Amino acid sequence: MKALVYKDYGGPEVMSLTDIPEPPTGQREVKVRVHAAGLNPLDFKVRNGLLRRVLKYKMPLVAGFDLSGEVIEVGLRARHFDIGDRVFAYAGPSRPGTCKEIVCIDRADVAPMPKSLGFDQAAGVPLAALTAWQALHDTIKLKSGQEILIHAGAGGVGTFAIQFARHLGARVTTTASVAKHALLKDLGAAECIDYKTRDFATLGKKFDAVFDTLGGKALIDSFNVVKPGGKVLSIVSLPDDATAKRMNLGLVARLFIRYTLRPVKAAAKAAQAEYRWLSVAPSEAHLRQIGDLIDQGHVKVILDSVYPLDEFSKAYAKLESGHATGKIVLRLREDAAPPQK
Ligand SMILES: NC(=O)c1ccc[n+]([C@@H]2O[C@H](COP(=O)([O-])OP(=O)(O)OC[C@H]3O[C@@H](n4cnc5c(N)ncnc54)[C@H](OP(=O)(O)O)[C@@H]3O)[C@@H](O)[C@H]2O)c1
Repeated sequence: MKALVYKDYGGPEVMSLTDIPEPPTGQREVKVRVHAAGLNPLDFKVRNGLLRRVLKYKMPLVAGFDLSGEVIEVGLRARHFDIGDRVFAYAGPSRPGTCKEIVCIDRADVAPMPKSLGFDQAAGVPLAALTAWQALHDTIKLKSGQEILIHAGAGGVGTFAIQFARHLGARVTTTASVAKHALLKDLGAAECIDYKTRDFATLGKKFDAVFDTLGGKALIDSFNVVKPGGKVLSIVSLPDDATAKRMNLGLVARLFIRYTLRPVKAAAKAAQAEYRWLSVAPSEAHLRQIGDLIDQGHVKVILDSVYPLDEFSKAYAKLESGHATGKIVLRLREDAAPPQK
């Protein structure tokens, strides 16, 4: 079967379409015929070796973490799925490889696709939407009436985050270039800041929470706009103390994190705010919740572009530009069947 493979760590030149054998289905797994695979910045960060300190992969490696498709076989202990079920999944950091025609995936990481979506849109949901949900709902615990600043609202994560925050009853301010403001207001942002002409740190306004999807200066400056007792949650920096402890990291990693995070901790202390960090986890239960919100019409999936698998180079170039609006998806099969509803 056809797969998008990185032959080694490196730039776009290490990617090619390769024939690989079909995997056997494990007892806890469902075998899925993949229709579409959503791309995320994680894909090129893994390929470039940027995350090698924390995520070590044996090369060659099949690309991709997100998928949508149809179940074609179920393992003995995954019998709650039926052949023909339409599913979507985030495979998790330890099991990449969704950019191939057939994928076996753990039953705990896969959920029925939202009925209102086709395969292309469904493939754009899992990693980005799980991140936004786990950040706002589970970690920040955003409440109705609170104010949140969401950085990079037009990104894959940001487009979901704005809609989840609105659904939870919060008032959303977001940063994006001006051409994207109309879309983000349509998704529920009350206020959009053109980051190219206006510095959010000088807004003179304080938020209950800031969702940082940029890191660096944006993360440090976020503490200038958070209320005392508020939270700044980053998905791009390094683990906070409690998370680092839970991750059971070695001494060297913990010392590196402690040293690197000194300016962040100093900014948090000065603002009397809490610094949190999140690494998204696969979750069938969360995918079901997100699917319900989509089917109930509370959340839209914004696709930047869909490329046939053969055009993976163009898809990665767009992804690596850092300027996609919503999600980029690779299509492995023609999306012949329309949404079920
Ligand atoms: N820790 C985790 O578990 C986790 C999970 C998911 C993602 N992430 C990380 O989170 C980051 C965001 O992911 P993503 O999927 O949302 O990325 P993405 O879709 O590639 O983000 C692209 C968007 O970022 C906007 N942007 C770029 N620079 C900006 C700036 N300075 N201010 C405001 N907006 C800006 C762009 O808007 P313009 O075109 O207007 O510039 C574009 O719409 C990535 O680094 C990713 O690796 C981490």
